[in-house]
Amino acid sequence: MKVDGRDYRTIWLADDGWAVEIIDQTKLPHAFESCRLESVEAAAAAIRDMLVRGAPLIGATAAYGMALAMRADAGDGNISRAHELLLATRPTAVNLRWALGEMSDLLTPLPADGRVAAAYARAAGICDEDAAMCRAIGEHGADLIEDARDTGRVPDGGRAGSTDRPVNILTHCNAGWLATVDWGTALAPIYVAHERGIDVHVWVDETRPRNQGASLTAWELASHGVAHTLIVDNAGGHLMQHGMVDLCITGSDRTTAEGDVCNKIGTYLKALAAHDCGVPFHVALPCSTIDWSIADGLAEIPIEQRDQSEVLEVTGRDAAGAQRSVRIAPSASPAANYAFDVTPARLVSGLITERGRCAASRQGLLELYPERR
Ligand code: MRU
Repeated sequence: MKVDGRDYRTIWLADDGWAVEIIDQTKLPHAFESCRLESVEAAAAAIRDMLVRGAPLIGATAAYGMALAMRADAGDGNISRAHELLLATRPTAVNLRWALGEMSDLLTPLPADGRVAAAYARAAGICDEDAAMCRAIGEHGADLIEDARDTGRVPDGGRAGSTDRPVNILTHCNAGWLATVDWGTALAPIYVAHERGIDVHVWVDETRPRNQGASLTAWELASHGVAHTLIVDNAGGHLMQHGMVDLCITGSDRTTAEGDVCNKIGTYLKALAAHDCGVPFHVALPCSTIDWSIADGLAEIPIEQRDQSEVLEVTGRDAAGAQRSVRIAPSASPAANYAFDVTPARLVSGLITERGRCAASRQGLLELYPERR
């Protein structure tokens, strides 16, 4: 995607051909800065400290982390050491495990002197594949937005099928190009719809506690010229009750073989409100986000718990441009910080993948991925 007229991906090889550059997402929306990764330890820290985040981008960064590890030491022991180090960074997004599996399976049988080139080539391949999958998700999901424009719900004072009002889409967290290598998952259909000239407007959940909606999704949409409005996390239900949301689209960090979806904390509550209000609730994801080994998301997906300081404090820039964190709770109060929740398949209207759309069910997924039967 373009930033100030220049094409960017979220991760790329430096001009020297070996170091890896990423956009430091902890600096957005106030500063657009890249950060150079020169070791597997730096790649692991970038994932753990969320300089990069979002399921597909975590996987891509881990793949390049393995390449950096091989450059330092291509011995057998370092494959498993690097794999374990990277796998321990974040527990929920399955793309991490998937990308590391791809890398280790490729590297282990190779002679040591062939591992560096192979690792860099596969990491680049994972990035290219992710960008292509997200673009395809965009095309399939844009058809859905086109349908919503033509058959949309009646907002207060509006008219079904009216083309004189935008399609209102609610999204949660950041599942845009910053969460992937390019294009995004939930936002890709919105970008493609925008390209097709469809009038879209996005309700952006701020997404406490880390505010990925306020800081990243809003920044992406503003940079791309897509109409949007930032809302507090608790506003979505009200908007849906008043016909102000035509559809919800979110991303996923892990989707089970039965179609349960694990995504940023608060996604489940949006799905509940959507269900109650009859608003379609769709989830966009590439195949690297499907965990075919599990069925029951509630029982089987590990939910990351992060530091309580993220809940007890808010961070932003003051008028003088200095970054500040301020405490918003009594000093005696502890906090719990669950980073993800599971939306059961029964609340999901459909999945949008690189192969097309399907029901959120084993049968639906197998129709798109028959090789998994
Ligand atoms: O904690 P984060 O910012 O890594 O969480 C990201 C999300 O929950 C996204 O919605 C998810 O990764 C899908 S994005 C392609």
